[in-house]
Amino acid sequence: MAKVEFKNVSKVYQDSKDDRKILSLKDISFLVNPGEIMVLIGPSGCGKTTILNLIAGFIQPTEGKVLFNGQPVTGPGAERTIIFQEYILFPWYSVRNNIEFGLTAKKVPKQERRRISDELLSLVDLERFADFYPHQLSGGMKQRVALARALAVNPEVLLMDEPFGSLDEQVRRFLQQSLLKIWRVKRPTIIFVTHSIGEALILGHKILVLSCQPAEERDYIEINKPFPRDLVRDLFFQDIKIRIHGMLQEEFKKGKKC
Ligand SMILES: Nc1ncnc2c1ncn2[C@@H]1O[C@H](COP(=O)(O)OP(=O)(O)OP(=O)(O)O)[C@@H](O)[C@H]1O
Ligand SMILES: [Mg+2]
Repeated sequence: MAKVEFKNVSKVYQDSKDDRKILSLKDISFLVNPGEIMVLIGPSGCGKTTILNLIAGFIQPTEGKVLFNGQPVTGPGAERTIIFQEYILFPWYSVRNNIEFGLTAKKVPKQERRRISDELLSLVDLERFADFYPHQLSGGMKQRVALARALAVNPEVLLMDEPFGSLDEQVRRFLQQSLLKIWRVKRPTIIFVTHSIGEALILGHKILVLSCQPAEERDYIEINKPFPRDLVRDLFFQDIKIRIHGMLQEEFKKGKKC
């Protein structure tokens, strides 16, 4: 379990075609405590993936500090894993071998690999599909394999970039519950990007609402409600939903003028 902290982080990109500088993040600060789920929500192109890439160590901040367990992030590390919207599985490996991939690379003995993949197959409800290949699975199943594979190496932080964005509503709800089930057992720290306000409310202990580019903090909402959450009957969620919706609408309108 790990703590992730941004202290006054700004990020400027250099356009590869000309000398234009692109200010992507402006003075972003937040703290995600060990075992918390923080959701990032904001207009398209505002800088959400940039935040994940900074935590993953793929890029460095222009100003400010990105801290992992109190130490500056200087590069990628196995303790910080990204899961993307497109489930990147190896088509020539079975479900089990996909899940065990990182363990095989780390030369974990076969018996131990088996024990870990059995536990994860059960956590993501894919026990019966261990010997299937990716092309035999639905999108939701593939994403559950990707999740299990990421978890196999026991990362401290899961960085999830719109992981359920391409799935239909029913499957998406199932995946959200799968993620919460995993979270209950393993308690990883999770930073989760989404465009869906509902998804943010179902999963987040904290929700950081970002403005249109450059991403600045628009709102920071803490939600001290247990899982599973009832978004329909609990008026608290209705209020927050309206509040976030209003902000995103404003940012969308501003975005069109940028
Ligand atoms: N490597 C790069 N070089 C130059 N500009 C970049 C680079 N990566 C991102 N940007 C710019 O930074 C801004 C933020 O990009 P980012 O991908 O973080 O946004 P996002 O919020 O994840 O968008 P989306 O919701 O569409 O996924 C965009 O204007 C983008 O064009
Ligand atoms: Mg993105």
